[in-house]
Amino acid sequence: MTFVITTPLYYVNDKPHLGSVYTTIICDSIARYKRLAGEDVIFITGVDEHGLKIQRTANEKGIEPKSHCDEISEIFNINWKDWNISFDKFIRTTSKYHESIVNEFYERVKASDDIYMGVQKGWYCVGCEEFKDNPENSSTYKCPIHQKNLEWKNEENLFFRLSKYQKEIEKIINEPSFIEPVERKNEIINFVSRGLKDFSISRTNVSWGIPVPGYDNHTFYVWFDALLGYVSAISSDTTNYSLEYSINGGWPADVHLIGKDILRFHAVYWPAMLISAGLKVPKKVFGHGFLTREGQKMGKSLGNILDPNLLLSKYGNDPVRWYLIKDITLGNDGDFQDRRFVDIINNDLANTIGNLLNRTSSMSRKWFDNKVPNNNNTSSANKLEYLAKTTIENYIKKFNSYKLDQVANEVLNLAINTNLYLNENQPWLLIKENDKLPVVKEIIYNVLESTRIIGLLLLPLLPELSSKINVQLGSTYQKDLPWEQQLKWGLLISNSNLPKPSPIINKLEYE
Ligand code: MSP
Repeated sequence: MTFVITTPLYYVNDKPHLGSVYTTIICDSIARYKRLAGEDVIFITGVDEHGLKIQRTANEKGIEPKSHCDEISEIFNINWKDWNISFDKFIRTTSKYHESIVNEFYERVKASDDIYMGVQKGWYCVGCEEFKDNPENSSTYKCPIHQKNLEWKNEENLFFRLSKYQKEIEKIINEPSFIEPVERKNEIINFVSRGLKDFSISRTNVSWGIPVPGYDNHTFYVWFDALLGYVSAISSDTTNYSLEYSINGGWPADVHLIGKDILRFHAVYWPAMLISAGLKVPKKVFGHGFLTREGQKMGKSLGNILDPNLLLSKYGNDPVRWYLIKDITLGNDGDFQDRRFVDIINNDLANTIGNLLNRTSSMSRKWFDNKVPNNNNTSSANKLEYLAKTTIENYIKKFNSYKLDQVANEVLNLAINTNLYLNENQPWLLIKENDKLPVVKEIIYNVLESTRIIGLLLLPLLPELSSKINVQLGSTYQKDLPWEQQLKWGLLISNSNLPKPSPIINKLEYE
C-alpha cells in the first residue's frame, strides 16, 4: 500500500527555523515507521516560493526573486539531509512541472464553473499571505503571528466558488479522523458553520507568481499554487508530469502534517479545490501546535530565536529528535527549555538506555568470553519477554494514531523496566555462586535481548542511536527481513560476539 505523508511546503523567505525542523522530524519518524511496517511510502517536503512575501524579501536583498529562491531552497534541501530526513520528494513550486500541473488543475476548476472575476477588498497579512476576517481597528491591528500591520487591498481578482461546497465541506470535516487533534476540529467546524465565502485565487500586484492563462497581469494566489505542490511532487522525477500521472502515483495524501495556523487552508479550501477538480481529498489533516522558547514566542525582535543548526552541531540529531518527539504531545503547543533538554537527554538516553546497554554488555563480555551468553531457557516464560511483547503492541497502536510522545515513552518504559529487572535479579551477586551460572546466563541474555528490541523500536524515532545500539549488540537491523518479524523475542544469537562497549551517547553539560 502507498502511504503519502507531507510536511508543509516552507516559505523561502528565510532559512529553516525550529518550527519547520519540528514538523519535518515528526513526519520523518512517521515515514520511517510506515516503511518499517511494510508500506510503500512517499514522504513529500519542499518549498513554497512564490507570492508577495518572497517577492519583497528578494527586493529587500536587492536580488532577483529567482536567485533568492534558488539560494534558500538549496539551504532547505541540504538542511534536511543534514538532519537525516528520509524524504522521497522535494518539491519547488517554481519548477516547470509544477507550473504545468497548476495550469491543468486550474482548467479543471474552470470547467466546473467555479471561477469568476470579482473585486477583492480586505485586510491582508503578507506574512500569512492571507486575508483576515475584518479585525477591528484593522489599520493598526497587528497579525498575532507576524506582529506586522495588515495592508488594505482593493483589486480585481479571479475568485473560486468556495461557497458552492458548503455541504460537502461540512460532511468532510465532520468525518471522525479527517481533522486531528479534536480541539482543532472544533475550530474548523465553527469557522465553516459561519458560512463559506468565495476566495480570490489571482493577484494583479504580484509579479512573482505563475501567470494565469488568459489574464494579463494576473498571477495565481500563492496558496492556490502551493497546495498543488503536494500533487505535483508525486511526479517530480519523471518527464511525464501530467495531473493524471501524479494522481495515479499515489494521490490522495494519507496525511498532511501542518501547524495549527494553516489548518483552514488544508482542511477547508484545499478539499473544496480538489472536489471542484474532480479529485480525491486528503485522508487526514493533522494540525500540530506551536513551539515557544523558555515560555516565550520565538522572534527576531525578541532575540530568542533558537537556530536549529546550532543545536544540531552542538548536540547531534537524535537528542533534538528525542526532545521534540517525547516531550511535546503532538497537537499541543510545546516549549523548548535548555535545562529541560539537557536533563531529558541525560536521564532518558544516557542514563537509562545508554547505561543499560553498557553495563550489561560489559558484564556479558567479562563473564562469557566477550560473547552473548548461551541461554538454554528461552522457552520458559519470563517477565521481560512479556513486557517487550506488550510494549510492541502498544507502540504499534500508538504510532498508528500519531501519539508519538506515547510511543517514545513506551520504549523508555521498557528500558526502565529492564534496568529494574537487572537490579532485582542482581546477577553480579549470583555469578559468585557456582550453581547459579545458568540463571545468570538467562538474566543477561534476557536483558541483552530486551535492549536489542529497544534498539529496533528506536529505529524510526532515533535512527542513529538505534543503529549504534544494535552494532553494540552485534545484531543489526536486516533490511530484507520484515521489521516486525525482527521484533520477535529470542532472536539475539547465543554465543555471538559482543563488540567492545563504547558509550552510545555522551552526557550533556548545562551551560
Ligand atoms: N508556505 C506555507 C505552507 C504552504 S503548504 C502548501 C507556510 N509556510 S511557513 O514556512 O510559514 O510555515 C510552515 C509551517 O511552520 C507551518 O505549518 C507553521 O505552522 C509552522 N510553524 C511556524 N512557526 C512555528 C513554530 N514556532 N512552532 C511550530 N511550527 C511553526 O505556512
